[in-house]
Amino acid sequence: MTAGDDQVHEDVTMSGSGAEVAAVVVLAAGAGTRMKSSRAKVLHEVAGRSMLSWAVDAAEQVDPEHLVVVVGHQREQVEAHLREVAPAVLTAVQEEQKGTGHAVMCGLAPLGEIGGIVVVTYGDVPLLSGETLSAMVEDHRRSGDAITVLTAHVPDPTGYGRIVRGGDAGIARIVEHKDASAGERAIDEINSGIYVFDADILHDGLASLGTDNAQGELYLTDVIAHANAVGRRVGAYVTDDLWQTEGVNNRLQLARMGAEMNRRIGEKWMLAGVTVVDPATTWIEDSVDIAADVTLLPGTSLLGATSIAAGAVIGPDTSLKDVEVGEEATITRSQGLLATVGPRGQVGPFAYLRPGTELGADVRLGAFVETKRAVIGDGAHIAHQAYAADVEIGAGATLCAGTIVANDDGVTKHTTRVGAGAFIGAHSVLVAPVTVSDGAYVAAGSTVTEDVTTQRGTAGTTQGAAGAGGSGLD
Ligand code: UD1
Ligand code: CA
Repeated sequence: MTAGDDQVHEDVTMSGSGAEVAAVVVLAAGAGTRMKSSRAKVLHEVAGRSMLSWAVDAAEQVDPEHLVVVVGHQREQVEAHLREVAPAVLTAVQEEQKGTGHAVMCGLAPLGEIGGIVVVTYGDVPLLSGETLSAMVEDHRRSGDAITVLTAHVPDPTGYGRIVRGGDAGIARIVEHKDASAGERAIDEINSGIYVFDADILHDGLASLGTDNAQGELYLTDVIAHANAVGRRVGAYVTDDLWQTEGVNNRLQLARMGAEMNRRIGEKWMLAGVTVVDPATTWIEDSVDIAADVTLLPGTSLLGATSIAAGAVIGPDTSLKDVEVGEEATITRSQGLLATVGPRGQVGPFAYLRPGTELGADVRLGAFVETKRAVIGDGAHIAHQAYAADVEIGAGATLCAGTIVANDDGVTKHTTRVGAGAFIGAHSVLVAPVTVSDGAYVAAGSTVTEDVTTQRGTAGTTQGAAGAGGSGLD
């Protein structure tokens, strides 16, 4: 075999069907000025995740050999975020934003000469899905086109690059709005900025770019005209789902995309058997898990690593972040963070579950009850206005109305133990550290500063500070 044969073989592999996705380059170097934010644009969140992490997720679905994010503005923030959410992703720095073509050059620089397929996407198009990218790659392989562009017909194409079709129904070139003639501006098919390239034509095309245009930038879009000029066809992958082509430039668009993402997430859970009474006021982050036959009432937000087991009813007006809710539990007009609620628990209205709250099965927490680092056993009740922090409460214990666990002596926090079946009368203060034994009884209005062992029935029920007889009431 001659060297020439080798070359031919290589070319076929590189541009023909079955070529590997060598790289996805995600552009995220732009300034995002219209966000008016000290936070990098691509770090703003949609459904609980940064736009960039949605973009990286979609990119990962085409199984690229390299995934490169091009960073520039506020790059320390962006790089730190990527280290956290996607440590395997490479970053390439574009010091100065000289246009999308220049950004792709920067993105490819660390990879050297690569073959196969290169996909280009943006970090600020959060609804672009991995399915769409995969379908584009598939289409690109099947067609044998040198470039496949994601396009859409939109009601108002102002600002977008316009797709100028060629004689063969392929794309002849893309003209930017600022460079377009009146006739070209009338075209309603727009360039999304998402592309699949054969690596060879991309390399050649980038090398041919100039800045002779209205913005004086190196336009990635000019690679399309270059491909045509060297006799390679450019195809369009036209999507009907306009959301997938929509970028976020300001906070109005951020809210629009957030609402749409939320609508899609809600729809997924409804089809999976969750009743969502008012999808528009129910906010469910992507990371949440919900079983069938859960009911979500209006004004519910489920955030972070929250999971809700079958038959639970959440809301109305309830916000849970990183909360695990057991089967058939109800949580009404309440707020929770880093807490667990056991099966058949009844929480609220107006309860506040703070980090470290762990409720066993059948626990009831009523109105204006606040808990923090509180491990509460099966069937315990804290039914009315109470504060329970740094406390272990045994199964079946009752803390009556107005019980306060005074966990903090002003310097340190101490742990209080209330035994199984213990009864703490209304308006009592348990001054930590203190232990109330299993089945022990504290009279209403007591201030408890020493351990209590008095059993129910033997206890006095006098008013005020004296409370129970026997040990330890002060
Ligand atoms: C670009 C396309 C346009 C398309 C539109 C879709 C070009 C020349 N034009 O226009 O045809 O309709 O996207 O939204 O490609 N970026 C960098 N470095 C740069 C410039 C841009 O990383 O030097 C990034 C931005 O952060 C952004 C993306 O590339 O994520 C697009 O940049 P933007 O300036 O919004 O492009 P448009 O001019 O809107
Ligand atoms: Ca844009």
